[in-house]
Amino acid sequence: MEKKFKRTLVTCALPYANGPVHIGHLAGVYVPADIYVRYLRMKGEDVLFICGSDEHGVPITIKARKEGVTPQDIVDRYHNIIKNSFLGLGINFDIYSRTSSKVHEKNASEFFRKLYDDEKFITKESEQFFDPEAKVFLADRYITGTCPKCGNPNAYGDQCEKCGSTLSPDELIEPKSALSGSAPVKVKTKHWYLPLDQYEPWLRDWILEQHKEWKSNVYGQCKSWLDGGLQPRAVSRDLDWGVPVPVEGAEGKVLYVWFDAPIGYVSNTQELLPQSWKKWWKSDESRLIHFIGKDNIVFHCIVFPSMLKAYGDGYVLPDNVPSNEFLNLEGDKISTSRNWAVWLNEYLKEFPGQEDVLRYVLCANAPETKDNDFTWKDFQQRNNSELVAIFGNFVNRAVVLTQKYFGGVVPQNLKPEDVDRQALEEILPSKKALENYIETFHFREALKEAMNIARIGNKYISDTEPWKVAKTDMDRTASILYTSLQICADLAIAFEPFLPFSAEKLRGILNMDVAAGFDHRAGEGEPTVNFFKPGEARALHTVACNSMPEHVVISSEVEKSLSWNDLGSVELLAPGHKLGENTLLFAKIEDAVVDAQMAKLAAIKAANAAAAAAKAAAEAAAHIEPQKPEVEFDDFGRMDIRTATVLAAERVPKTDKLLKLTIDTGIDQRTIVSGIAEYYSPEDMLGKQICILANLKPRSIRGIESKGMILMAKQGDGRMRFITPAEAGTANPSPDALVNGAQIG
Ligand code: MF3
Ligand code: ZN
Repeated sequence: MEKKFKRTLVTCALPYANGPVHIGHLAGVYVPADIYVRYLRMKGEDVLFICGSDEHGVPITIKARKEGVTPQDIVDRYHNIIKNSFLGLGINFDIYSRTSSKVHEKNASEFFRKLYDDEKFITKESEQFFDPEAKVFLADRYITGTCPKCGNPNAYGDQCEKCGSTLSPDELIEPKSALSGSAPVKVKTKHWYLPLDQYEPWLRDWILEQHKEWKSNVYGQCKSWLDGGLQPRAVSRDLDWGVPVPVEGAEGKVLYVWFDAPIGYVSNTQELLPQSWKKWWKSDESRLIHFIGKDNIVFHCIVFPSMLKAYGDGYVLPDNVPSNEFLNLEGDKISTSRNWAVWLNEYLKEFPGQEDVLRYVLCANAPETKDNDFTWKDFQQRNNSELVAIFGNFVNRAVVLTQKYFGGVVPQNLKPEDVDRQALEEILPSKKALENYIETFHFREALKEAMNIARIGNKYISDTEPWKVAKTDMDRTASILYTSLQICADLAIAFEPFLPFSAEKLRGILNMDVAAGFDHRAGEGEPTVNFFKPGEARALHTVACNSMPEHVVISSEVEKSLSWNDLGSVELLAPGHKLGENTLLFAKIEDAVVDAQMAKLAAIKAANAAAAAAKAAAEAAAHIEPQKPEVEFDDFGRMDIRTATVLAAERVPKTDKLLKLTIDTGIDQRTIVSGIAEYYSPEDMLGKQICILANLKPRSIRGIESKGMILMAKQGDGRMRFITPAEAGTANPSPDALVNGAQIG
């Protein structure tokens, strides 16, 4: 890491408060960011970790409208769910605030006002679609209609999901408001725009020349935006939910959510550090890192930096913008609206004590360079064959054997051999690689290196077989377990950024929380504050206790994590140090557990399919076909319509569509051939009361003389139904019932 920076400000994309957080968010943004922050802290760096809910924007207002509640109700609900679930997964932001806060409203408003006063905006009048019934302007997404390219009746104003075309609402055939269903009308409206085109030369230099180190997906997206040419971007919207545009003549207008949300990073820092926030945001000794998903790249690399640049006043620009691709779930795109996700709040409830398993799997499988897939089988497999079988197994063997042979006390290194030194030395290149990977935002590779340390330990203890050696050579056994325990302690450090819960558990097992203590041994005057190796302070305390009244006093403030630099040190656990209580680090996940999760997903899939079918049917029903041209009453009067009963029915051989029916009209029996065999079996027809057109000119169909035609009527959705006498055996149906009648012969 370059040393010119004194501190690092890490932000995570502010999640929209319109739903809980799911594994896609976690794998792409929050887990990697948390790993990064923990790592830097262990290295002793000054780090601030900022996040919060993004509570404005159209989707939140839509959701509120659907549920018949206020947008504030929606964001209150999800803000708390999201906040608590992050905590539950050990993602400990220094602040998790929200963009509906007072501080933010004031801050975002002032930000806009300064750009406005400095004449950094241009204004444009344009025609926008307006829903005359709901009385709101419509974002493109909230206009639906028929796709001009493929005919999909459910295309959105910005995109057709069926054929993938990018659309504008103007192109839709028969556009409708998704809010009220009414036809939108165009209304003139004025908005403020940030002229991004003016920032293009500067952005080209800043990103394409000065930040070639950005991840290739990020750099590539920026380059293609810049090469495509930037356009002015509207920073206001006609909406009643958001930060009001703070200028005259802007009634009913709010800041565009993508204008206010990134300012939320600053607001939340201010809320946390009202006195000292500037040292994080306005000092060139601060390094700003935005963790985001790939759909946020343009906003964080182009729009927000242009806003900060326009504002001036020494705002820092991001030094890096690590961004991941998307995570899929069991082969399908994660989707909030289709409920196709593993929701963090549900996971935490269903897998108590297994927070780290999710962190592990999401990191091991992170979509760093391409989209990736989460499957429950993979989840189980990684837990059982990696966490349990390698990491957990190694630690358990080392600790259990130490208890068995040495009463749970770290033994003396009485009989060292080369293999011991080699095992410990092998850790160093993994440590180095791990550091490089984390510092360049390659977290899955970094995790592999941490896991490699566990593999080294597991192999070491399998190779040296202390359980066998103990039968003949206790001194050698002491050395093997001494070495194994040092590796366990290394693991407690190496895994702390990735698996903080397990690392803490492991520190408990090894009894290695570092004690900060007051060292009085120098005698008179102020004691020195010292950090002691696990066991050391207590050991000194015990020794000194008898000889001097004041000696080493362990403070109640126990540092929660070891320093990163201790990783790979020769002696992390001193001989004589008493281990803590052994517990299993990881538990096997049984088939039944993942089967239940897969069944849950299957049920969601089935429910989605049913909902889609119902929707399609409803849409088809709404799509009434045009009626046929009018007919004269005389034409109609010439038809002899009669009720009849089906006496016999059979398929016409060698055809798929035809049934031969024998019917009784009450005055005669006759044969009618009808093209309904695809929909009705002979058994369906037997005994059925129907209506026929009796005086249709007889026709020969497949060599069978058909006398008349069965009457069917077209239903709203275009499907055909039999016309059946309301009361069997009585009057013919009234002529009205036949107005839409269509015929199948
Ligand atoms: N809410 C946005 C999303 O989930 C991210 C906003 S990031 C911020 O995609 F910078 F605007 F805050
Ligand atoms: Zn289409």
